[in-house]
Amino acid sequence: MHKDDEPDSVSAALAAQLRTALSAAGGWLPFDRFMALVLYTPGLGYYANGSRKFGWMPSSGSDFVTAPELSPLFARALARQVAQALEASGTDELWEFGAGSGALAEQLLQALGDRVRRYTIVDLSGALRQRQQERLAAFGQRVQWADTLPTALRGVVVGNEVLDAMPVTLLHWTGEHWLERGVVAQGDGFAWSDRSTALRPPVDGPFLPGTVTEVHRQAEAFITTLAEHLQQGAAFFMDYGFPEDEYYHPQRTGGTLMCHRAHQADTDPLVDLGLKDITAHVNFTGIALAGQAAGLDVLGYTSQGRFLINCGLAELLQGADVRTASAAHKLIAEHEMGELFKVIGFAKGCRFDAIGFAAGDRSHRL
Ligand SMILES: C[S@@+](CC[C@H](N)C(=O)[O-])C[C@H]1O[C@@H](n2cnc3c(N)ncnc32)[C@H](O)[C@@H]1O
Repeated sequence: MHKDDEPDSVSAALAAQLRTALSAAGGWLPFDRFMALVLYTPGLGYYANGSRKFGWMPSSGSDFVTAPELSPLFARALARQVAQALEASGTDELWEFGAGSGALAEQLLQALGDRVRRYTIVDLSGALRQRQQERLAAFGQRVQWADTLPTALRGVVVGNEVLDAMPVTLLHWTGEHWLERGVVAQGDGFAWSDRSTALRPPVDGPFLPGTVTEVHRQAEAFITTLAEHLQQGAAFFMDYGFPEDEYYHPQRTGGTLMCHRAHQADTDPLVDLGLKDITAHVNFTGIALAGQAAGLDVLGYTSQGRFLINCGLAELLQGADVRTASAAHKLIAEHEMGELFKVIGFAKGCRFDAIGFAAGDRSHRL
């Protein structure tokens, strides 16, 4: 962070903005609105301020590590899938949503070379866009940034850990009613407050009284919008999450909302505003249904481990030194990122058997 956005002043400035938003809204903000403000308020929100965020160790000032930060072999394996999709769709443009530090873009561009005529990044964060521009300067005009989608998008789309960063709606089951959970001001800070709602989780339950869970209206709307713009091509999203029967399992009474700071997780998004990530797992059934309803074909859905192995990660690892192999192993190991993380693929205007789902496709489990 810069000197003028020290942690305390970032939190205080965000709190002031939230109080203004609360007064304008009559004293109550739905959680998705609160999450959007805390993550994306220009200059102050977690993704919009200058803190480091991505990295291996807390000592670097980072809060969590993502697959492209962990090992360049993630991108090299994904590049094989992207290459197949570019070929099958007859396109040469790659789009990335939520590019973070620009690591995946850099590695995909290196791996794919001339097969990508143009790489376009869409990211809500101005601070991260600046970081991406510095990192990707060497690629010149081949890389560009966009705030909106073209009416007709032809190409391949990727997004790693972007769906989990989209604000979620919180629902609370009292045992008799569903309530929407929101935020009110309390003293110098903020507190939870519930209101009646017509919203429901996508499954009937059973749910235990006291359950708090999430619904993902923004992530699903994002997929719908993407589907409406994609004319010809494919899209691949990598993230942590489950199909809806696992997501809304009766034992998951606390939902999946989580904060990350300095490589530690906690469950209280109402404190340390702007200093920690807030995230929820992805309901991949909802994502698949939103895509299908808007005209996308589901190419496949599987674990990240299976996807990367299908894309040839084992071959890419041959001859790797111990450090490279150990980092890449975390991408596929079941107790690390291999099983919790999933990949979903969509296509439109072209048909092909995606290599990433060749073995172990779990679309039938969605
Ligand atoms: C958890 S980070 C992942 C960054 C990177 N993909 C990685 O794997 O390291 C989430 C990223 O998504 C961006 N983001 C969140 N919502 C977005 C949206 N609706 N459109 C585009 N980018 C978004 C954030 O600004 C951030 O760059």
